[in-house]
Amino acid sequence: MSNQNGISFPSTRMRRVRRTDALRRLVEETTLSASDLIYPVFLLSGKNQSTPIESMPGINRQSIDGILKTAEKLLKLNIPAITLFPVIAEHKKSITGEEAYNPDGLIQKSIAKLKAEFPELIIITDVALDPYTTHGQDGIIDENNYVLNDATVNILTKQAISHAQAGADIIAPSDMMDGRIGSIRSALEKENFHNTLILSYAAKYASSFYGPFRDAVNSKTSLAAGNKYNYQMNPANALESLREVELDINEGADIVMVKPAIPYLDIISKVQTKFSIPVFAYQVSGEYAMLKSASDAGYLDYKECTLESIMSIKRAGASAILTYHALDVAHWLRS
Ligand code: PBG
Repeated sequence: MSNQNGISFPSTRMRRVRRTDALRRLVEETTLSASDLIYPVFLLSGKNQSTPIESMPGINRQSIDGILKTAEKLLKLNIPAITLFPVIAEHKKSITGEEAYNPDGLIQKSIAKLKAEFPELIIITDVALDPYTTHGQDGIIDENNYVLNDATVNILTKQAISHAQAGADIIAPSDMMDGRIGSIRSALEKENFHNTLILSYAAKYASSFYGPFRDAVNSKTSLAAGNKYNYQMNPANALESLREVELDINEGADIVMVKPAIPYLDIISKVQTKFSIPVFAYQVSGEYAMLKSASDAGYLDYKECTLESIMSIKRAGASAILTYHALDVAHWLRS
């Protein structure tokens, strides 16, 4: 009996390094810290507003006063970043989503308030039109409901600039249009936002795990019979994700994202192995809903299963993880 080095049992006993907690800690390959976490929040207009999201137990949409309190908690727990998703009133939605780049819009005003109060907290903003369009698509559609690429990129670029002007640190296009990273990068440079980062959702799959998120931002009813198959990636494809990442790096992305996370660990690993750029992963709403609801029902140990799932995302190669569990995880890591 010999292993690949020609050393045989009992010279090699894999269990020696697993015997005690101290030994296990010494040989541990991956560690998780609060610094690896980014907390996504759902933003309502108005004051003192907080509404639960049925399909995401434990998560509320909140108005900016509540988000400011959340921001303070994040900093106390050493979580470096927050990402904002606006819930837009129906009367502000339109076919072409102009509200997306309104300098006095919900997101733009909220970025400024957060920055003023907590300048050290990294603010990541979502660039895509789905919260703003009556049809729930991430872009502008033609008469056949096809999402038009270049016209959409124009509006996304305006949206990105309005976020940078409001004070966003990281612009995160999640729309999957071709060429949007290059367009946003050159606009940022032209407007003198030399240090605004672009986190590209480079490998974003057409996933049904986004269902609870679409409830949260009320885009599900708008999207109705539609789908995002002609711009988000086919879950069957892996090689294609490498081309997406390569293009976005060449167009000026600083960080790339793989999304969702757990069903796509192979993609995280492939991207991290092939490219020298930080890779983030998004543990999406449906992944949260699975873990949380099974735990609430008593079928899973919430803490252990959540820590294991987030550890596996890091082990696969993610340097940071967007997760709705971020506050819970940071609390557990403290105690
Ligand atoms: C929209 C966007 C989506 C998510 C983040 N940005 C949904 C979608 O593409 O339909 C999903 C996040 C989640 O499920 O937690 N551009």
